[in-house]
Amino acid sequence: MKSFILGMLTLFVVAVLASSAGIWLGVYNVAADVPHWEITRMTLEVARERSIAVRSGDLKLPSLDDPELVRAGVLEFHETCRVCHGAPGHPREEFARGMYPLPPSLSSGDVQDELKSEEVYWIVKNGLKMSGMPAFSAFDDERDILGAVAFVKRMKDMQPEEYGGLLEKSRGTRPEGP
Ligand code: HEC
Repeated sequence: MKSFILGMLTLFVVAVLASSAGIWLGVYNVAADVPHWEITRMTLEVARERSIAVRSGDLKLPSLDDPELVRAGVLEFHETCRVCHGAPGHPREEFARGMYPLPPSLSSGDVQDELKSEEVYWIVKNGLKMSGMPAFSAFDDERDILGAVAFVKRMKDMQPEEYGGLLEKSRGTRPEGP
């Protein structure tokens, strides 16, 4: 038992020294134009999924069906989220194409098929470390955040005509559009 503990301890010390040496020698490439190793990508993905699920588990959102909230959400989405994520009929801005990870389209994929509204709310409010996804709580009010979530959850497979129509209608409800 004693030699087992000693063996584990030695292994641990060697692992810590080896990874410290790797970091110091610059083995890890932080360049945004070089993808993660597969093992790093998988580890980060699981860490992100679990972190969001655990932290949003107790959240209780008000109803996201209020049409006024959705209208405010379309405008918020068009003004702030579209530049990175793109929108139906609108590609991402050029700078966003150089981001890593690439901001995903929000009209399909995980957001529509896997993430609950509470999880989307948590992401928008708190942002995601080391990804470029901002924490909107730093500059947006609660209603804008809820509006963005309400709209995003209605965006599944939305076509450019529908998006354009919703945007026009929402702009009509306030004096100056974005
Ligand atoms: C400056 C660029 C930027 C802006 C602006 C931005 N995002 Fe993001 N967002 C990202 C990036 C990059 C990711 C990917 C993060 C990752 O994969 O870890 C992301 C991820 C997300 C995700 C998780 C997607 C998934 O599939 O897991 C959601 C939901 C999201 N953003 C919603 C929004 C909403 C809503 C807005 C506007 C209120 C917004 N984002 C504005 C860059 C941005």
